[in-house]
Amino acid sequence: MSFRARLLLAAFYLSTAVVLALAIPLALTVGERADSDYEAVVLGDAAILAARVSDLVVAAGRPGSLPPPARLDRIVMESARTREQRVVVTDAAGKVVADSDGTARRGAFYATLERPEFRAALFQGRIDTRKRFSDTLGEDLLLVTVPVVDRERVVGAVRLSAGTRAVETQVRESWLRLALLGAVVVVAGVLVALLLELPLGRQIRRLAEASTRLGQGEFAARVPEEGPAELRVLAGSFNQMAADVEGSIEAQREFVANASHQLRTPLTGLRLRLEAIKGEGGLAGEQAAKAELELDRLSTLVDDLLALARATAIESTASPVDLGALAREAVGRWREGAAASGKRVELEELGNPHVWANREDLAHVLDNLIDNALRYSPPGTEVRVETDERGGNAYLAVVDTGPGIPPEDRARVFERFYRGASGRQAGRGTGLGLAIVEEHVRRWGGEIRLADAPGTRVEAVFLRLPTER
Ligand SMILES: Nc1ncnc2c1ncn2[C@@H]1O[C@H](COP(=O)(O)OP(=O)(O)OP(=O)(O)O)[C@@H](O)[C@H]1O
Ligand SMILES: [Mg+2]
Repeated sequence: MSFRARLLLAAFYLSTAVVLALAIPLALTVGERADSDYEAVVLGDAAILAARVSDLVVAAGRPGSLPPPARLDRIVMESARTREQRVVVTDAAGKVVADSDGTARRGAFYATLERPEFRAALFQGRIDTRKRFSDTLGEDLLLVTVPVVDRERVVGAVRLSAGTRAVETQVRESWLRLALLGAVVVVAGVLVALLLELPLGRQIRRLAEASTRLGQGEFAARVPEEGPAELRVLAGSFNQMAADVEGSIEAQREFVANASHQLRTPLTGLRLRLEAIKGEGGLAGEQAAKAELELDRLSTLVDDLLALARATAIESTASPVDLGALAREAVGRWREGAAASGKRVELEELGNPHVWANREDLAHVLDNLIDNALRYSPPGTEVRVETDERGGNAYLAVVDTGPGIPPEDRARVFERFYRGASGRQAGRGTGLGLAIVEEHVRRWGGEIRLADAPGTRVEAVFLRLPTER
């Protein structure tokens, strides 16, 4: 699972847990509060009604019995209308005196066992509050029954019944609002996590890219030191490491360049002395001639090392290079020498490929490839230098009709100092030629490869520079 997915999941889990921990008790309290508030209101109504009935009893001047039905009916209807409640009043014996609904017959006995609320009010003199499901209305009813008291005697009971659907709807709406709020909090939590992750993820990807580039030899690869503290430190140490690597590569290259340069002077001196000895003739002269051959090899090696050091140098000048013209010049340089050993060097120039590179580097590439092609193939061989433009690419190839490079050597010929069987047979050479070629091509953004061919075909592909025609 990706870092981002983990972080988002953690944020989701955490915010959901917090929301649930807070919202569930809150929702329960809201429900309970609404119920008890409603109960208090109905209870208040019932108490007021009971008090009014009790007042009527006093006013009627008939202690111990309820006022005449007509007067009772009026306040019962009034109370029922204001709150949409049903009001039933019974006398001390539990017989109905008034019913706002009109369903209960006057005089009917109402304090039955199915209506324990009346029994509690009438016979125990206490206020009774309960809920009961009404089949006719299809909802829970809140029943509040209050005794009507005259001079400490229970003279009757008042029962208010009120529907609870409205309260329930209200509670459900509050719950819905809470749930919506919770969802918003969870989404906000995930969004914040995403916002926090973005710079983090970006920096990690940058570091990964930079280390890949460094591994591919782009020693100037660095990452900006930004983002969270830990990643800033990591970026800092990465940059330090890249700088160290770059520095040590550069130092190594300088060392090779200096060493080979320093070696050249004594080699020249040595050559002059050997020539002098050779001039004297005799046995010493013969030995000197052989030593001179060894000296040739040593000189080539020093030259190649110097070229390689230059190829890997970090600084160098570049300009647009006309590949076709460059190939033409190279063929011109080699044609005569090749003809002397019975070989031909041909040019196949197509398109108008230009590349951004150092001219000398590319000339060196051509020289090395043509040198190989001529050196490792028998008389009668044709060496062809091809240039072309293909789509966005500039294309260069040196092809020969010689024996080719055997499969076991193919993978290794670009290594430094590696010489194939044909190379070892030929004697002269250091095994640095193709390594130098690859360095030069890579440095100018190109790619080099051995293509399948009857002989040898070495191809280099560069990004083409747009040219005016
Ligand atoms: N055109 C070719 N035909 C056959 N074999 C080749 C060809 N080019 C290269 N090789 C093989 O690849 C090996 C490596 O070539 P590379 O140019 O790197 O070194 P070299 O030619 O041996 O020495 P240097 O070029 O440094 O004098 C050679 O020794 C040879 O065996
Ligand atoms: Mg070579």
